[in-house]
Amino acid sequence: MQIHVTSGAPGALRVGAIVVPVFADGRLDGAAQAADAELGGAIADVFTSGEIKGNAGETALLHAASHGTKRILIVGVGKREKFEIASLAAYAGTAVRYLGKRNVTAIAFTLPLEASADLQRAAAFLVEGALAGTIDGTTYRTEPDKPILLDSIDVVATAGAHEFDRAALERGIERGRIIGEAVNFARILALTPANDMTPKHLEQHAAEIAKKVGLQFHALDEAQMLDKNMGSILGVSRGSDEEARMIVLEYTGDPSSTEKLALVGKGLTFDSGGISIKPAQDMHEMKYDMCGGAGVLAAMLAIGELKPKANIIGIVPSSENLPGPRAMKPGDILRAMNGKTIEVINTDAEGRLILADALCYARELGATKIVDAATLTGAMVIALGHSAAGTISNDDAFRDHFLDVAKQTTERYWPLPLYDEHSVTVKSEIADLRNSAGRAAGSLTAAAFLKAFVGDTPWIHLDIAGTAYTDSETASLAKGPTGYPVRAFVALAEDAAKSTAHAHNGAATAALR
Ligand code: BES
Ligand code: MN
Ligand code: ZN
Repeated sequence: MQIHVTSGAPGALRVGAIVVPVFADGRLDGAAQAADAELGGAIADVFTSGEIKGNAGETALLHAASHGTKRILIVGVGKREKFEIASLAAYAGTAVRYLGKRNVTAIAFTLPLEASADLQRAAAFLVEGALAGTIDGTTYRTEPDKPILLDSIDVVATAGAHEFDRAALERGIERGRIIGEAVNFARILALTPANDMTPKHLEQHAAEIAKKVGLQFHALDEAQMLDKNMGSILGVSRGSDEEARMIVLEYTGDPSSTEKLALVGKGLTFDSGGISIKPAQDMHEMKYDMCGGAGVLAAMLAIGELKPKANIIGIVPSSENLPGPRAMKPGDILRAMNGKTIEVINTDAEGRLILADALCYARELGATKIVDAATLTGAMVIALGHSAAGTISNDDAFRDHFLDVAKQTTERYWPLPLYDEHSVTVKSEIADLRNSAGRAAGSLTAAAFLKAFVGDTPWIHLDIAGTAYTDSETASLAKGPTGYPVRAFVALAEDAAKSTAHAHNGAATAALR
């Protein structure tokens, strides 16, 4: 895929189609005004005729044989006063999906004048969204359905009389490409069915990432996990012939610092529920139960390319959850790496079991802050639906900071509380903990369980059960995996670099005083 900055009037661009944003107020300015003038008022006519209203996701394709570009795609971007730069991702994705399905392989995107507020971010979101739009889950068809074949993207620096800063656009394009490719990598891993995406396959992908962008890599096999007393993940893995793995990627961008952010992701490559087996309805979607883990690997890929001045470790506990002859049974008691004993009430509450050992391991590997992401509870889908991921923490300030950082991405996170009584409800009569505490506040009791494995390390838990994949297509994105939590993880890693820069500057100022 070629991605370039280009300039010139709309009609001067020799591409398959030029994309023009229009706001719901119908006022044409910048590139929209220039294109409208070239087309003798055809864009204004699309409005006055009521063909489109300018709402986000709306499209209208104009053909103009005499026009240099021949095809002009009008894409609605919603209310002008509510415009956010991040929405350019959906703008671009919408155009790519509309045009890509219609054999248009070279697209030039014009930007609204409002993009001037932050051109680098504008270009980054545009490219991220365009790349995300290219994915369709038809890889296994012998004849893929309407593949979206995109060869080139141009970001147009000319908006009517206005010229945007090309250097800022170039920087944004590179960032958007890195993040967009990482997001798509996570989505492809998730789409890959469980017979092709086992813990060992996930490990191989991690090893390839390490080689590609220069990260340290290791993975514990079951014998090594046994040595480390990781009885909790090994309990989950017993029911499957596929061996579990504890996969680790490490990036050291600031060797002088002892700060280390751990990104931990649930890598359950298939969740049948185990002996507490799930109903058949929708069970096939449980190949997506490794979205958190895929998100960690993808974020580490992007981090290896973006090279922030921070230390980040990615940890993916990976296993299948099957009801094989040696499977753990309800009532069994497991012993996690930190020595805590766990009564297995429900073998389907396996995510917290594999995360328990991963969180302990993060601390052993020197994590000073931990963020985990997991498709952990069906209760999360009931609570927030597909609109936002639950965000639960043992440290309110860390959580609030994360929410601020994540707000700069297209992903949505929403805070949920964690009270001491939730920790009381996950106590077992016979062991230290039980892995299920019934239906009430299922997402919060799951978090309370995880909290028992992070000690006093500041920690945030992201329950992405409702956001990691969708069951319907939108104008800008195919149905299936969404790429959560890649964007928030990358943003947090970059923010960690800023935070240490402040700490270093602070130390320098203190030394001067
Ligand atoms: N992977 C599931 C959670 C899930 C459900 C994700 C639906 C996405 C959609 C998890 O392992 C699970 O089965 N959780 C149980 C926990 C319960 C047994 C305490 C659940 O939510 O029902
Ligand atoms: Mn489960
Ligand atoms: Zn699960």
